[in-house]
Amino acid sequence: MKAIFHCDKRWGIGKNNGLMFSLPKDMKFFRETTTGKVVVMGLNTLLSFPHAKPLKDRINIVLSPTDIEGTVTVHDLDELFSELKKYPPDDVYVIGGASVYRVLIPYCSEILVTKVDADGGADVFVPDLDADPNFACISESDPVEDNGYAIRFCLYRNTTVL
Ligand SMILES: NC(=O)c1ccc[n+]([C@@H]2O[C@H](COP(=O)([O-])OP(=O)(O)OC[C@H]3O[C@@H](n4cnc5c(N)ncnc54)[C@H](OP(=O)(O)O)[C@@H]3O)[C@@H](O)[C@H]2O)c1
Repeated sequence: MKAIFHCDKRWGIGKNNGLMFSLPKDMKFFRETTTGKVVVMGLNTLLSFPHAKPLKDRINIVLSPTDIEGTVTVHDLDELFSELKKYPPDDVYVIGGASVYRVLIPYCSEILVTKVDADGGADVFVPDLDADPNFACISESDPVEDNGYAIRFCLYRNTTVL
């Protein structure tokens, strides 16, 4: 299982249950990485999508207390992990939000982080992976301009997972 997100300089990932930046190049990277795969998200993240609809061409697994049409709804982590047995681990991407990253990042082998060189005034955050001894940054792109922001595509590997 992997996780993917973009974050600002303070590891902020969102504000007012939405994203802080509009980043077409990062969005393209996200779409290309996750299309045809399995995405795992919390209810708030699903609700933040246009018309609160699941992402097309992906199996959408949603952690939610109530069932959501067009998704595989799971109600707790036990149910999630038993559902995930159906899929190759490398095909599964955790796509947010903050509460779900917090719980699932320790189980992820790799984290694909797009770092935005800005402070977006976030109200939700992910853990600082640079401060986590269980994760190592193994690659980082040169900065790329995306809608006026400098972004870098980084890959973190979980050193505790084979
Ligand atoms: N920058 C990025 O790449 C990125 C990506 C995704 C999302 N985001 C942002 O993240 C924010 C949303 O994050 P969030 O933390 O508020 O919400 P979230 O994690 O998307 O969803 C939280 C909901 O999911 C359910 N849930 C979470 N973990 C669960 C578990 N272990 N078992 C059962 N249910 C569980 C909770 O249900 P209950 O009601 O039962 O607690 C809760 O209502 C938004 O601002 C969004 O835009 C950013």
